[in-house]
Amino acid sequence: MLVAPSILSADFGNLEAEVRAICEADCDFVHIDVMDGHFVPNLTLGPVVVKSVTKAATKPLDIHLMVQNNSFFVDLFAPFQPEFISFHIEEEKHANRLAQKIRDLGIHPAVVLNPHNGLDSIEYLLEYIDMVLVMSVNPGFGGQKFIPNVVEKIKRLKDKIEIRNPNCLIEVDGGVSDANIELLREAGVDIVVAGSYVFSGDYRQRIASLK
Ligand code: DX5
Ligand code: ZN
Repeated sequence: MLVAPSILSADFGNLEAEVRAICEADCDFVHIDVMDGHFVPNLTLGPVVVKSVTKAATKPLDIHLMVQNNSFFVDLFAPFQPEFISFHIEEEKHANRLAQKIRDLGIHPAVVLNPHNGLDSIEYLLEYIDMVLVMSVNPGFGGQKFIPNVVEKIKRLKDKIEIRNPNCLIEVDGGVSDANIELLREAGVDIVVAGSYVFSGDYRQRIASLK
């Protein structure tokens, strides 16, 4: 299991040290939640802050856009060369084109499903993307409760991925902890995002327990 701690739960007053600490604690990616106050009722960070994150990070970035006007934000964050940029499917009229734009920038494109989104909207996109991020909370805030029916959704997604693009990864975000990690692994998840779980304990021990 690969682990991407979400810095939303980090101490923003000591962000560089926090990013360094999770990287030294053997995380696989640094998950960055970009919220614009429109797509979700919260506002987080922009390129100025991400620049200081990149200075401290020794692991690749995983940028999760929760915004309107995805293409604009892709242009803002592409210069940091993250491993992934993920965008919410319901907020994108031209998902195929945007995925190709992200790929052309040398970044792996990923698509996000909200808890209420079914799989139909991405079925014919799977062969053009490298990861599906399945939200297991309603996006906007850290520390929320895991929504159990996503496990069934992930299993059905895994079946579709096997048929259409076996290389496509599955990532899960929201309420992940040692209480549900086994279920997620069994369902076929490759990467978990964990904010409050990692940052509320010993980072190395928490990341290791998810792995
Ligand atoms: C929620 C964010 C998550 C969040 C996860 O909108 O996308 O990445 O930080 O935090 P936890 O693990 O505390 O649910
Ligand atoms: Zn996220």
